[in-house]
Amino acid sequence: MTWWTGRILPGALVLAVLALGGWLLLAPRGGEPAVPSAASIAAENLRDPGLIARGCYLATVGDCAACHTAQGGRPYAGGRSVATPFGDIPAPNLTPDRATGIGQWSFADFWRALHAGRGRKGELLYPAFPYTSYTRVTRDDALAMFAYLRTLAPVHRPAVEPALDFPYSMRGSLAAWRAIYFKQGAYRPEPGKSPAWNRGAYLVRGLGHCNECHAARDALGGVSGHPALSGGRIPELDWYAPDLSTRAGGGLQGWSEQDIVDLLQTGRSAKGVAFGPMADVVADSTQYLSGDDLRAIASYLHALPPRGQPPQATPQFDATTLARQGGKVYAQHCADCHGKDGAGVAGVYPPLDGNSAVTEPTGINATRMVLLGGFAPLTRADPRPYSMPPFAQQLSDSEVSAVVSYIRHAWTNRAPAVRPGDVSRYRHTPLD
Ligand code: HEC
Ligand code: HEC
Ligand code: HEC
Repeated sequence: MTWWTGRILPGALVLAVLALGGWLLLAPRGGEPAVPSAASIAAENLRDPGLIARGCYLATVGDCAACHTAQGGRPYAGGRSVATPFGDIPAPNLTPDRATGIGQWSFADFWRALHAGRGRKGELLYPAFPYTSYTRVTRDDALAMFAYLRTLAPVHRPAVEPALDFPYSMRGSLAAWRAIYFKQGAYRPEPGKSPAWNRGAYLVRGLGHCNECHAARDALGGVSGHPALSGGRIPELDWYAPDLSTRAGGGLQGWSEQDIVDLLQTGRSAKGVAFGPMADVVADSTQYLSGDDLRAIASYLHALPPRGQPPQATPQFDATTLARQGGKVYAQHCADCHGKDGAGVAGVYPPLDGNSAVTEPTGINATRMVLLGGFAPLTRADPRPYSMPPFAQQLSDSEVSAVVSYIRHAWTNRAPAVRPGDVSRYRHTPLD
């Protein structure tokens, strides 16, 4: 799991923040959590089968296993590293092994980790663990997940310390970051909104942690200052998670609630398919959500406010040559599947006309799709999806730049061109 790559704080800036008085914040701040007493949770409550089943479902919504499972390893036994610019941060063992997992944790410890981003000894946790979203999870839901994790077979797997450079290696340095970007607090339902909207908001902004990818980060790696879910680049990994508003100027303009439900449940919709990191999210998490929860998410996303119009496309280099060259590459390599008119084939090949994956602001997604090919997630609803062949070997940087610029400007699409230099860079980005 490396989607967090590049998302925390670029080094020099952290140092600047620390130098500017951040050290004063190293002491635990006032207003830290009132943690429920461990004794208040009777052991027998944790064995309630209904609670455990709910916890299993919620852990899937939270996609906890995606990070807390090593490649080919036992689920939840930890070991997968979340890469950051200053080193790898391994996700620890969440099985109930007493020595190396959370076997000795009380619910209070667990709640504090999820809600306040602190480890068992009170140490500050790195936000590669998305507690910035999980803080909105209710105590009841946290209890259910805790009960579920305790039913797993204990796996003995010692923790690996993060391999970080100074000063990131000092957890205390996170206090400065948290002072700016972390707001602890539960989700409070908005009284004027429907129960479905509120459920959707709770899932999207809390357990589903959608905003961790779908919002731009500033230079210090925080998401504050950007409207929620307004789209953002996942740096270093080089994928773009689009704006999720379906209204005017939004990245999913024209998507119906059913299109959103389809995408999250099956990995495909009439408007586009899930690929890259989103394919993993669908395969590991959203395909298992109940119909009610998926509809709640769709209803919340559907009600996001309209966005301003995206900036007008400015051609970056000779548009006519590019269109001619790109049109040729398209006719030769793409039109058989996606159609001359870019309409695709319903249920088989996605349309490229009016597709947000093609016209997103950066052009990264279409470029990487052409280079790497596309593997739709395998889901229960669509166990044998069609895939797209990679063109990295066949097409040069200038051909890829031409065809991507072409599909971004053909038919009704109007998005800026992509330069050959960018294509060359995306060729060398690691897969996720
Ligand atoms: C995007 C990756 C990611 C996801 C998703 C994720 N975690 Fe983690 N988690 C981490 C990382 C990385 C750490 C280690 C942070 C550190 O060392 O400061 C961590 C730490 C923890 C800890 C502290 C454990 C310890 O030994 O200190 C707990 C508890 C935890 N996660 C529970 C969860 C639960 C429950 C979920 C799902 C609701 C979840 N995590 C989802 C990456 C993730
Ligand atoms: C053999 C058929 C085939 C060919 C040839 C093909 N594609 Fe695709 N394309 C697909 C399939 C299938 C998908 C969906 C893959 C997935 O779900 O990951 C796709 C997905 C895409 C996407 C992402 C669309 C979305 O909704 O997310 C883009 C962009 C794209 N193709 C562009 C191209 C371009 C440009 C070419 C020519 C260089 C091309 N494709 C050639 C079958 C093809
Ligand atoms: C690990 C990062 C990550 C997380 C977490 C994530 N997404 Fe995405 N999402 C992406 C990326 C990257 C894309 C662009 C690729 C694509 O279109 O499939 C995307 C695309 C989408 C799309 C549009 C698909 C299309 O064809 O244009 C929807 C809808 C979506 N995500 C919804 C969600 C929701 C709802 C959640 C939370 C439950 C979520 N995402 C969580 C990374 C993420």
